[in-house]
Amino acid sequence: MVNSEGNMGEPTVQDGASVWRIARDSHVLDVNSSYSYLLWCRDFAATSVVARDESGTAAAFATGYIRPEQPGTLVIWQIAVDGKRRGRGLGGAMLDHLTGRLRSRGVLQRMETTISAENEASQRLFHSFAARHGASVEHEPLFPARLFPDAHESEHLYRIGPLAESPTPTPGTQYSETRRTRSVAS
Ligand SMILES: CC(C)(COP(=O)(O)OP(=O)(O)OC[C@H]1O[C@@H](n2cnc3c(N)ncnc32)[C@H](O)[C@@H]1OP(=O)(O)O)[C@@H](O)C(=O)NCCC(=O)NCCS
Repeated sequence: MVNSEGNMGEPTVQDGASVWRIARDSHVLDVNSSYSYLLWCRDFAATSVVARDESGTAAAFATGYIRPEQPGTLVIWQIAVDGKRRGRGLGGAMLDHLTGRLRSRGVLQRMETTISAENEASQRLFHSFAARHGASVEHEPLFPARLFPDAHESEHLYRIGPLAESPTPTPGTQYSETRRTRSVAS
């Protein structure tokens, strides 16, 4: 069983291969080199999170970094949940876990991510996160398709903030093995 907190934490290089597999099998994320995930799990572990199953294998991950020019802003680079575990609150629980960890280590005011126009699940995930954290959401085009050298959808920048000092605890932050216990309106 993957629970909301017990098996959630910083990735290690041992998680790198599983994180790469989850990204590959999502059929949504850009699949970067396996090397890049190993490197991320080494150098950006403090701003990333994995949720492990009962065997200790990563079943979901979020990779992030603090924006160099905005030290109060956490950028979520990629987030994905293993296909059979989606829709049960795990994505939201990872974002809450990561935010809580970074808050305990310093100032965190905002979150940013990029989402394509067609990715409703991801839009919903981040709107829901914003609602729990008393934050507003603004979005604008960031990388139009013409900037990409290959066939790639446009990516919109989502700015979430300012994050409340004390996020509203809701059942929506608890991952359930079987179902969501309550929805959070955005
Ligand atoms: C996006 C993703 C990480 C969400 O993870 P998850 O664990 O399924 O999300 P949660 O269960 O925490 O749900 C978060 C919210 O999204 C909603 N949601 C989840 N899947 C959805 C779907 N397919 N369609 C619409 N809404 C969806 C949930 O209802 C919930 O909303 P609520 O809080 O208002 O009830 C997951 O769907 C995934 O791995 N997708 C493939 C990779 C991807 O697209 N990553 C994001 C790239 S920007």
